[in-house]
Parts: sequence; C-alpha cells; structure tokens
Amino acid sequence: MLRLFVILQIIVTSYCCLSCSGGQNQSIEPGKIWNDTQGNPINAHGGGILLHEGIYYWFGEIKKDSTWRVPYITTWECYRTNAGGVSCYSSKNLTDWEYEGVALVPERSNPASDIHFSKVIERPKVIYNQETGKFVMWMHIDSEDYSYARAGVAVSDSPAGPYTYLHSIRPNNQMSRDMTLFKDDDGNAYHIYSSENNATLYISLLSDDFLSPSGTFIRTLENQSREAPAIFKQRGKYYLITSGCTGWAPNPASYAVADSVLGHWEVKGNPCVGKNAETTFDSQSTFVLQAGGSDNAFIFMADRWNKADLEDSRYVWLPINIENDELSISWIDQWDLRHFADE
Ligand code: GAL
Repeated sequence: MLRLFVILQIIVTSYCCLSCSGGQNQSIEPGKIWNDTQGNPINAHGGGILLHEGIYYWFGEIKKDSTWRVPYITTWECYRTNAGGVSCYSSKNLTDWEYEGVALVPERSNPASDIHFSKVIERPKVIYNQETGKFVMWMHIDSEDYSYARAGVAVSDSPAGPYTYLHSIRPNNQMSRDMTLFKDDDGNAYHIYSSENNATLYISLLSDDFLSPSGTFIRTLENQSREAPAIFKQRGKYYLITSGCTGWAPNPASYAVADSVLGHWEVKGNPCVGKNAETTFDSQSTFVLQAGGSDNAFIFMADRWNKADLEDSRYVWLPINIENDELSISWIDQWDLRHFADE
C-alpha cells in the first residue's frame, strides 16, 4: 500500500510540475535528443543523479565542440573532446530539466592541473554528507592517453555547485578509471571503480566525510575487465550492473547480486532482453536511479556514445524489472513514470 502511495505521489508530482512549469518533455524517449527547459540539448554524459530535498540533480560530463582521435594512440580508438567540466541540471519530475550551469569549471590556464581542459574528466557522481553538510563529487580524472588513471574529489556547500576541486588520488594505491558512488541507507558510502588497468573492480568504503578511502575495500569481478559500474539496493539485495571494456563501442552489460556491498558478488549475466540486448541497446551503463525513493522504481541510465561526435552522444533510460532477485531491462521507445504504477 505504502509503495503504491509513493509511486502515485511521484506521478502526481510529475504531472503537476509539468503543467506548473510549462515544461515540454512529457515522457522519456531513449536515444532521442533530450532538451533542457531552455530548448538546448542536455549535455551531461556518463552522469549520475542526486535526489536532495525533493529535487533531482543530474551531473554529467560536458562534451562540447569538436571530437578528434588522439593520433599517437594506435592500439585503441581514443576519441576525445576537451574536458568541459561537469554540468548540473535539476528537475522535480525527471522529464523537465533546468540547466543549473557548470558545477565543476575546468581550468583554462594551468596545463598541469587535473581539471585542465586538455585532461579527461569523466563519470562524475555526487553524494551528500549529512554530518559535514557538504556535497561531495568524485570523478574519473585522466590524461588524454588514460595513463594517469586517478579519482578526483570536489566539494560544495550547495547541490548545484560551484564545486571546489580538492585533488586526485589513486585509491588504495591502485589505478582508478570508470567509477560510481553509492550511499547505503546506513549512511556508509562507497567508491566503486575499475582498477588494475581495468581488469578488476574495487568497492571501497569511504571515510566518514566521504572525502577519502577508509582503507576497507574488496576486489571483485576479478580479471573480468568490467567498467561503467552502476549499483543499487532493493529490499536488502545489492545489484551491480557493468559493461565490458570496449572503449566507446557498446557491448553486453552484465549484472551481479550480493547480500552486502563488501560481500560476495554473484555474476548473473546480461539483464537486457530482446532486440539489441547484446549491445545494451547500443549504450553503456552509467547509473541506476531510484525514482522518488520507491523500492520498485529503478531506472537504468546509460550513454549511447557517438565516438565521432561525442557531444551528440544520447541518453538511454529504461525501467528495470526486478523479480525473484533477477533483473531484466527491455527496450521501450517512449515511457513515463506511470510504468512503475502498472507493475
Ligand atoms: C569507455 C569508458 C568511457 C570512456 C571511454 C574512452 O570504456 O566507459 O567512460 O572512458 O572508454 O574511450
């Protein structure tokens, strides 16, 4: 009953907000161009969402202007844009997104800075620390050849920023590339990252202020070369969706289940079903959003990369079906949050 109430609340809020704000997006259309409330395409790739005081904040990589291939890298297709920093958009209904601006501004003058536009700033994620009152952003920081392999940390007093960049680290003395953050309902937070040159995933408990690793971590999915981690918890079970390691090209997703974050992760296989399941519907995971705090409304968020024009990469969001601890994700051309009320 409570669940139905929560879902109805999300739907009512969403339709009320649509009519109040005059927003134009009434549904989610995976793979189409998504505009913000000013009519500009949303630029928030490899993103994640923070729900804070009833407002969703979507943070993502700003990929702007030209895309080029780094000429001296011949072993893989290293297409890139200048690092544009991290954008922030806000929404009350998950369809109308207001541009809040550049939450983390890249450095223009000092090429040695981690966040100089010549570097890589990817997969930013933000969590809120109740104790310190700070919003904490972690992100993948790299050199253009991806050999730097570090995790960057930034903080702000307000959700949309501006964020102050603190530094980058090699957490637990290891490489860190694709990453996400996860805040559990007991207040503990975790940094989950592709490590050991992308061979093995690390799940690392953060310190109480969320600014550094606590020193407690596990290595999991060992030597399976998984990246693009997205994690969530439903009814006591933890689910971890990852991609394979093929650069900007899509590949099959896979998920694992565990009884605790630092416990044993059992690999279950590709959650995607139907046409194009083997390419994750031509996309790569970035985050799972628990809509409205409901325990039955989880949204798979992914990027459909366009390696030749990274700015034109699109967003693929699809509902996750969970039955008997098993996930399935099916393609839907167009949907809205009423989908969850039908379940
Ligand atoms: C992908 C990764 C992206 C980006 C890309 C660069 O494997 O998931 O976030 O780093 O490689 O080629």
